[in-house]
Amino acid sequence: MEKITKDHSLSGSQDILAENIQKLKEIFPEVFSEGRVDFEKLQLLLGDLITPNDELYGLNWWGKNEAIKESMKRSLGTLRPDKESSKNWEKTENIYIEGDNLEVLKLLQKSYNGKIKMIYIDPPYNTGKDFVYKDNYKDNLKNYLEQTDQVDSEGVKQSTNTKEDGRYHSNWLNMMYPRLRLSRNLLKDDGVILISIDDNEVDNLKKLCDEIFGETNFISNLIWQKKTGASDSSTISTITESIIVYCKDINFIENTFSRNFESFDLTRYRNKDEHFELRGPYYTDNLDRGGLQYSDSLNFGIECPDGTLSFPNGRKEFQNDGWIWKWSKSKVQWARENNFIEFKKSDNKNSGWSVYYKNYLNVDNENNQIVRSAPHKNLITSILNASSSSDMKKLFDERVFQYTKPVDLIKLLIKYVNFKNNEIILDFFSGSGTTAHSVMQLNSEDELNRKHIQVQLPEITDEKSEAFKSGYKTITEIGKERIRRAGDTIFAEKKEELDQLKAKASLIQTDEEKAKIQELEEIIAKLDIGFKVFKLDSSNIEAWDTEMPETVQGIQTRLEESRNHLKKGRTEEDLLYELLLKQGLLLTSQIEERSIAGARVYSISHGELFICMNAPITMEVIEGIGNWGKESIAEAIVDLKPVLVLKDEAFGKDDAFKTNAELRLKNEFGFAKVNTL
Ligand SMILES: C[S@@+](CC[C@H](N)C(=O)[O-])C[C@H]1O[C@@H](n2cnc3c(N)ncnc32)[C@H](O)[C@@H]1O
Repeated sequence: MEKITKDHSLSGSQDILAENIQKLKEIFPEVFSEGRVDFEKLQLLLGDLITPNDELYGLNWWGKNEAIKESMKRSLGTLRPDKESSKNWEKTENIYIEGDNLEVLKLLQKSYNGKIKMIYIDPPYNTGKDFVYKDNYKDNLKNYLEQTDQVDSEGVKQSTNTKEDGRYHSNWLNMMYPRLRLSRNLLKDDGVILISIDDNEVDNLKKLCDEIFGETNFISNLIWQKKTGASDSSTISTITESIIVYCKDINFIENTFSRNFESFDLTRYRNKDEHFELRGPYYTDNLDRGGLQYSDSLNFGIECPDGTLSFPNGRKEFQNDGWIWKWSKSKVQWARENNFIEFKKSDNKNSGWSVYYKNYLNVDNENNQIVRSAPHKNLITSILNASSSSDMKKLFDERVFQYTKPVDLIKLLIKYVNFKNNEIILDFFSGSGTTAHSVMQLNSEDELNRKHIQVQLPEITDEKSEAFKSGYKTITEIGKERIRRAGDTIFAEKKEELDQLKAKASLIQTDEEKAKIQELEEIIAKLDIGFKVFKLDSSNIEAWDTEMPETVQGIQTRLEESRNHLKKGRTEEDLLYELLLKQGLLLTSQIEERSIAGARVYSISHGELFICMNAPITMEVIEGIGNWGKESIAEAIVDLKPVLVLKDEAFGKDDAFKTNAELRLKNEFGFAKVNTL
């Protein structure tokens, strides 16, 4: 039975450095000698690939090495649930995290590795006036806890990165590097990242992304025309900004980007079949034509489902009445094999059948499987930044946030990506929550249920600002309130639309009316306007904390708390979430609770993790947990190997009981691991 100590892999976020070393060991075991790397040997093994340092091409800045190291350090912090400021906690699968995004990204590494379809971020542009968070690589978590409370004597945020600062660009790059590096790990193989930026840092950002994501994974520099004119320049006015797009791996993105269907009447495409994911929705059209140039070769019999031959114009046999099939014999054969033909019974046709072909949205029928629409262009001219103010005015009387992006812009960017149901969008510079708003809006317009994760620093608002005067002391308060209000508005609008549709429908509803009503009811039923709030904090478990208190009193309290495991003011629920996060389970995992022989036991994510913090416990409790584990294994669709976490004191001083319990849990009940705190 392993005890999870401070250095154990389960007491912190993913140990990226250790994992990289392990990978290197697997490929080049010969370069390791007494646990250290023989760099000269590694150079020899890599041969011509090594470039002398002074000839290297790339972006360099002050502090880069530290930034690289920082991206590999693990976090010992945690994310504490905050049910009170959440919305629909029990049901929702959206997440709002308050905290510095570097620590948060580290904490998400295990659970969300390879799980995010799209990242959109709108980081500080480094204009010289905006807030650029200053990391403290020695103890970033402590720094965060201090910094979120800090303003200097003049009320100026200490983190404003001014152009006069000699390391103006370096500061920004040091802030961005580790965050981008960590965010890449979270992307699915077919995932993409889109980053808003303006001329201040666009060159640096592009180079930085080339380094982190790889030049070959660059997709586009989208130019967004955000205004029609600007009078604030004596030279040339800038009316555009950029959205830089990279993918995780160019080899996996065949279906990642949607096509531009603007010229299509999308309302026609109402049917779906088993090819929906690839081919999109479809409509049917008659395969025969009367007005085309006649050819005998296009006048042949097609075998219908009951064996009857059907000729063009519904004839039963060959005859030249001018009617032909649209497609040749070989193409019809190909189309039948590939599910492009549909037969419908018809009393008006002599053959008794009408033959249709399917027009899928994503397929060019003239060239068989080729997608026919155009790709999106890298120029966006249809949405002006001014619309972001009206987005916010609909929700707030006061101007609570200055840097909001237009909902229509983010919606458009999300639409560029082909989402599957339940895929996740992450925004870790979320500001007023525009990404969350856009996701909910889009989910209310189509059949998909995209999920979102927002991360935002509780940056304090300026005392002179309208936000502060309206009671919003931090940007997270603005963000959460915006998402709450936007969700309610979207929901109310959909309900209203449904009521109107029902009121307008005929007394006996037509099939079309029924279908529309049903479609809207389904959208309303699946609409998730809630979010679970989590807050970044130091570990709940004393023994895992990085900081040793400075006073004797503090050390005494620490010792006392170590015995109880939980820090003062922390709850068992805080602990559950810390353990599940550090085990690599999703923050939205299902948590079930049972009382077993007087002990409170939790099963997380349908039996992946069991937790019991009672001490002492009896063999009856062990058996109860074992049986619950066995039950979960039987019900699981995937191979399930439950892990159990107990208190070290659960067994008192009875080592035989401890050994016996572990053996039974593993051999009799199928548990993979039993750990103690
Ligand atoms: C340009 S704004 C994003 C605006 C957002 N797109 C919107 O539409 O509301 C950038 C946000 O990133 C936040 N931010 C800056 N540094 C951060 C950090 N280290 N962790 C989390 N958020 C941060 C700032 O507080 C700011 O709200």
